Amino acid sequence: MKLSVIGTGYLGATHAACMAELGFEVVGLDIDPAKVEALSRGELPFHEPGLPELLIKHVASGRLRFTTSYAEVGAWADVHFIGVGTPQRPGESAADMRYVDAAAVSLAEHISRDALIVGKSTVPVGTAERLATLIADTRDAAGLPGAVELAWNPEFLREGFAVKDTLTPDRLVVGVTSAQAEDVLREVYAQALAAGTPWIATDYATAELVKVAANAFLATKISFINAFSEITEQVGGDIGTLADAIGHDPRIGRRFLNAGVGFGGGCLPKDIRALQARVSELGLDRTMRFLAEMDDINLRRRDRVVDLAVQVLSHTLHGAPRRAPNGGAGHTPDPVSVQVLNGARIAILGVTFKPDSDDVRDSPALDVANRLYTAGADVAVYDPKGNANAAARFPRLDYVNTCEAALQGADLVILLTEWDEFKALDPTHVATLMARPTIIDARNVLDPSTWRQAGFTHAALGHRYID
Ligand code: UGA
Repeated sequence: MKLSVIGTGYLGATHAACMAELGFEVVGLDIDPAKVEALSRGELPFHEPGLPELLIKHVASGRLRFTTSYAEVGAWADVHFIGVGTPQRPGESAADMRYVDAAAVSLAEHISRDALIVGKSTVPVGTAERLATLIADTRDAAGLPGAVELAWNPEFLREGFAVKDTLTPDRLVVGVTSAQAEDVLREVYAQALAAGTPWIATDYATAELVKVAANAFLATKISFINAFSEITEQVGGDIGTLADAIGHDPRIGRRFLNAGVGFGGGCLPKDIRALQARVSELGLDRTMRFLAEMDDINLRRRDRVVDLAVQVLSHTLHGAPRRAPNGGAGHTPDPVSVQVLNGARIAILGVTFKPDSDDVRDSPALDVANRLYTAGADVAVYDPKGNANAAARFPRLDYVNTCEAALQGADLVILLTEWDEFKALDPTHVATLMARPTIIDARNVLDPSTWRQAGFTHAALGHRYID
């Protein structure tokens, strides 16, 4: 079976290389010639562990190639996966569907044989039905030969684990309108099915909703624990122990209850906003209203880090009496805060939205770094993989190539993305580099007592700053 994958971003490039690894002949299509050239040379334009090896292996074997030509894939492939982006529309909550629509129409215009189109992008419910009609109408108008069907097969891969999640998924969900379409997809995923992966064949709407429901649930879990952080920051208590304790209940589970600076990335934030926009369109304004609250809780975590930085520095730099925390209510820096931050040297460790990725889309870490800079702090940023992408967005921050360079002479260090390199830091060594041994752990991954024993003033999200 010959496969094409439309779009070669985080999702499409991973899917293409993994399908080649499963033994299929694959062509990846992108409208960006520079991307196609890089991928054809075996160069991955983003960071994803394990993926460069697969790309190189299958470009060399000839099983995987890349093109910009819809005519080429339309004449060649049996199955076409659509893996293009559905970003948030600028200034709106809804998803921008122009890339998915363009891919569907371009395929419809160029397929000249029997084929199955399989949508993988995250889309508002109702999209597959709309596209099925669009594809049929386009082909009827052009009088093209061959029967073309549409299926929807949402993707659940996580950045950083994309290869594993694609080759050995938790579950496979397909929205289909015929037994033939399901059979084709069973053949594509035969290896995972043989290994016992749950297979859920359903209608379009369910398949589309499964994806957004999963991401909305994950976002809610994170904001739920972060809401409790606002309480423990005020009254004391340990947010990690609270998460561990409730997580022992198998109905709740411990995963995705890590309190910190919150969720970001190209998926969770825009997906909960697009879901609210879609249900409003359907006249169900109140149905997903709680997600607006989850979004707010999430964004308040960023305010809280800025607020903590002001509190900590007003004490360590300016000798002011320590202030009681404000309960996590958060605020953008007022003039007093700007005075405190002005000229303070702050080391930022991590700018990606999570470790093992170079993705800075809607990154809480990068947002915090930029806010501190805007308020007058002298910000030195280090991320093992994210500096280049961050610099493309906020070029005026001072990006350095090592952790040590960021820490040199700093009045405060803020850990914002939990890379292994930062979790393994030796506080005694860090103290020798800094002007003042002061740390904010915005991901709750460091042991406070070890850092305090090394002479650090230590603050963390979800913990009262002053006991
Ligand atoms: C997410 C989903 O986890 C995938 O299943 C889904 O396929 C993907 O979106 C998508 O829609 O394409 P991803 O964006 O790679 O995957 O990242 P996650 O691992 O979900 O993390 C999202 C954010 O939540 C990160 O900023 C992370 O730091 C944060 N997070 C995660 C927490 O703050 N606390 C936690 O306990 C877990």
